[in-house]
Amino acid sequence: MVSSLRCVREELGDVTLFDIQEKENFAKGKALDLEQNGAILGYDRNIKGSANPEDLADTDVCIITAGFPRKPGQSRADLIGLNHKIMKQWGENIGKYAPNAFVIVITNPVDAMVYAVWKASGLPANKVVGMAGVLDSARFQLFVARALGVATKDVRCMVLGGHGDDMVPIVSATTVNGIPVTQLMSREALQPHIDRTRKGGGEIVNLLGTSAFYAPLQGHVLRRAVRHRRRRRREDPRAQPDRRGEGDAREERQVGPRPVRRDEQAVILRDSAKGLPATAALPAFVASSSA
Ligand code: 2OP
Repeated sequence: MVSSLRCVREELGDVTLFDIQEKENFAKGKALDLEQNGAILGYDRNIKGSANPEDLADTDVCIITAGFPRKPGQSRADLIGLNHKIMKQWGENIGKYAPNAFVIVITNPVDAMVYAVWKASGLPANKVVGMAGVLDSARFQLFVARALGVATKDVRCMVLGGHGDDMVPIVSATTVNGIPVTQLMSREALQPHIDRTRKGGGEIVNLLGTSAFYAPLQGHVLRRAVRHRRRRRREDPRAQPDRRGEGDAREERQVGPRPVRRDEQAVILRDSAKGLPATAALPAFVASSSA
């Protein structure tokens, strides 16, 4: 649902919500609600609900969130037995009715579920991916920004590996507007944020009683929306510059690690902290230079 709302708000295309046969009317009701929401928010996309896999025909992008989410105390791997059968069924449906689709799998354990969908669908390996790195990187980005008292948008980072306790936040690729994070906080000070990122999903499951859904479902849509918008702008020179995309355009100019003098650092951090609510404590480094 969150994913569908973002897809239509980003004008990515029409949307069909699929659910099991017993919940087809639920899917139809949600779809109708989303369409009516478009009259208020100004998007004009066709949104349908269905339980019929034949409605997958000609789909460009399939986002699979079907299956059981985690409960407190469960690991993602505990879901394999429950979700594998569902992934196999929908992988076969996609292979049969939407063989040209790009598939994004969210269902956990996502690394194994991507493999299950790929095997069942028969699609090329580069057309079936899992959404995890965007989510894990977003968590690490937030934790580092909060620790340093800077704007989250100014932190760049990357988390590689599986979507589990073995994921690896890449410290050497973590920067604040180009300042290597290791110039702003020690490796020891970073470790709790690395550990919290690894356990980020479980922290929410223990609080919420079920899996997170806003960040997981936005992540993959937003990245696709940004690429979709850029491609449309490139293909249609008459298109007005998409102001919404300005922040995204910064994505293209990834500010990688660069040598930054200490006096320059203070200015960069102060500018980044400016956008934060007054309550955000300035990082010690900037405060000391303002003293
Ligand atoms: C998470 O980490 C649902 O696996 C997802 O929140």
